[in-house]
Amino acid sequence: MQNLISDLDIITEEKKTEEACETVKVSKDENTGKERKLYIESYGCQMNFSDSEIVTSIMQENGFDTTSNFSEADVVFLNTCSIREKAEQTVRKRLSQFNRAKREKPGMMIGVLGCMAERLKDKLLEEEKIVDLVVGPDAYRDLPGLVKQVDDGQKAVNTFLSREETYADISPVRLNSNGVTAFISIMRGCDNMCSFCVVPFTRGRERSRDPYSIVKEAQDLYDKGYREVTLLGQNVDSYKWSPEVNNKARLEKSEVSEIINFANLIEMVAKVSPDLRVRFSTSHPKDITDQVLHTMKKYENICNYIHLPAQSGNSRVLKLMNRTYTRDWYINRVDAIRDIIGEDCGISSDMIAGFCSETEEEHQETLTLMDYVKYDFSYMFFYSERPGTLAAKKYEDDIPLEVKKRRLSEIINKQQGHALERNKRDIGKVHQVLIEGTSKRSEDDLQGRNTANKVVIFPKKHYSKGQYVNVLVEDCTAATLFGKIVD
Ligand code: SAH
Ligand code: SF4
Ligand code: F3S
Repeated sequence: MQNLISDLDIITEEKKTEEACETVKVSKDENTGKERKLYIESYGCQMNFSDSEIVTSIMQENGFDTTSNFSEADVVFLNTCSIREKAEQTVRKRLSQFNRAKREKPGMMIGVLGCMAERLKDKLLEEEKIVDLVVGPDAYRDLPGLVKQVDDGQKAVNTFLSREETYADISPVRLNSNGVTAFISIMRGCDNMCSFCVVPFTRGRERSRDPYSIVKEAQDLYDKGYREVTLLGQNVDSYKWSPEVNNKARLEKSEVSEIINFANLIEMVAKVSPDLRVRFSTSHPKDITDQVLHTMKKYENICNYIHLPAQSGNSRVLKLMNRTYTRDWYINRVDAIRDIIGEDCGISSDMIAGFCSETEEEHQETLTLMDYVKYDFSYMFFYSERPGTLAAKKYEDDIPLEVKKRRLSEIINKQQGHALERNKRDIGKVHQVLIEGTSKRSEDDLQGRNTANKVVIFPKKHYSKGQYVNVLVEDCTAATLFGKIVD
């Protein structure tokens, strides 16, 4: 999924993994005089953050205001991630902290939502005595009923996975919003079964959301002053809406009558307004089509940035990972991006070091693939075996931890070099930047991103967030571009 980390000056796996499990609190304290208060904290990918906005909407409709201070909450939700062992450990630690808080405030209800809830189901109720409620990603409509069940003195669980649920009709309550950029979920689940990955088990079957409801959400955001939307899915290129199949499943009427693929969808969203930027994540190398690339080229407001996780640069390892593409296929897709969109199109990746049986030579091929592509950014991890996945069943997790860590640090070091090299190419050029707010480093500076998703920092002048400005880039680090507005 897309870049939530703006700093690349991270070398150790510990730090990196923590960043990837970044937490988000309810930043907006909404006090409309409702009876009870909800505190929600999210871990994992953007999809989870986006789900927390749906959960908040459902809870607000059912008698809850939100708070950013968990000690004043009646209900505390942790929206959790299972992707690596470390992610689950972080949540367990947090649960113990809430446990201590609950001793001071015995009426406080604690719920675990999201992927860890789905993976562990009622085990969480048995093991973690403080958990009152366990709700999987497809069961959020049931939250009011489940909360009531806990109010009535029972424990509550719903981890039913749906083939249809897309929450299409629920208007998310924007959390941690800068008022300029927002996420829109366009599909849920994943059918890919990469052998290392727990997501198909925690999120269920892939399903696409009604395109009309997606365009409507984008239009609403635009009308409220937002200027960028990121369309989210685990594999956006397999987005497909067919009125026959989808409506039969959902017994509802859609305004859209033809088959819509991902290229059609981004075109529909791009047409909301030329002033609304469109981004998306994640693209799967096996599915990304030239049609999508040509559509990106055609519309100025579809950003030139693609998150295209490779995972490994070696075809044997890719086969074991069940990624269903080879190194050559991946390179062909990168060449197509550069040919159709251009050399400046931002490309980022996810990489896994030390997958089962990976040899030193195979690891070297990951490094040479990186040399070929020169990614602007990457999320980098060492392999963490997840119970129940194909790899856990079929392959031995046989690469020693210190070897995994050493390979990972080689990958990270290489990425640092490439990010700096790619950023240096931007010096001396004028970039269109959408201003997202004040820079974290100085009140006198603003920050935003260029089309390739790079953070750009520049002196404020009289400009403010939500505006587009042209910035001449004069300097850079591996993580950030620095410049000045040219009128
Ligand atoms: N759908 C996205 C990825 C979602 S998970 C895609 O296909 O790219 C985000 C990233 O976490 C993955 O791309 C992978 O690099 C990493 N990841 C997933 N399972 C992992 C595991 N068991 N160990 C280490 N990293 C893992
Ligand atoms: Fe996991 Fe693969 Fe699906 Fe991504 S595409 S969520 S890595 S199974
Ligand atoms: Fe996302 Fe983590 Fe679930 S990465 S889909 S929250 S396992």
